[in-house]
Amino acid sequence: MIDRTVTVPDAETMRRLGSDVLAPVLQAGDLVILTGDLGAGKTTLTQGLGAALGVRGDVASPTFIIARTHPSLTDGPDLVHVDAYRLTTLAELDDLDLDTSLEDAVTVVEWGDDAAALSDDRLHLTILRERGGVFDMDDPSGGERRVRITSHGRRWDAVELPQL
Ligand SMILES: Nc1ncnc2c1ncn2[C@@H]1O[C@H](COP(=O)(O)OP(=O)(O)OP(=O)(O)O)[C@@H](O)[C@H]1O
Ligand SMILES: [Mg+2]
Repeated sequence: MIDRTVTVPDAETMRRLGSDVLAPVLQAGDLVILTGDLGAGKTTLTQGLGAALGVRGDVASPTFIIARTHPSLTDGPDLVHVDAYRLTTLAELDDLDLDTSLEDAVTVVEWGDDAAALSDDRLHLTILRERGGVFDMDDPSGGERRVRITSHGRRWDAVELPQL
């Protein structure tokens, strides 16, 4: 079981958390849940992950769509990027027309709220923004994040995450 907390000082390090820590261990069929406030860095992390997986298209915040499929440009898994603010259960994901099957993809769900109710096998990242630091008007979203990574389900029993 994985339970690790890492300190992420800037956006570039958040991208590296996706590319250097998550991408090497993720396989087709895996589910990653990202929990955190607006602007916490969920999409930033997913960008690093998408780059390392070698998928097509820019990972961006899906505004009017709930989910976007980024097909693999190699023979690795596709990336399904989901904005779950408008989903209430993961079962609803299956009802969407995703152009790929979740068994063939790494699925990343940005979940605004606590996702403790989800019982599936998953890697769960909770991104906490440090508050109380000096607020910088020129960089309102800047600052350190703490990311707690926990695993749920047997899938992760023998998985070792690389160091950031
Ligand atoms: N330590 C950090 N980690 C991640 N992002 C950071 C950090 N410091 C500053 N940022 C900036 O914060 C912003 C995070 O935005 P991002 O879209 O990734 O958040 P989000 O969690 O996906 O938000 P939303 O809830 O709107 O989807 C980016 O502009 C990024 O450059
Ligand atoms: Mg986002």
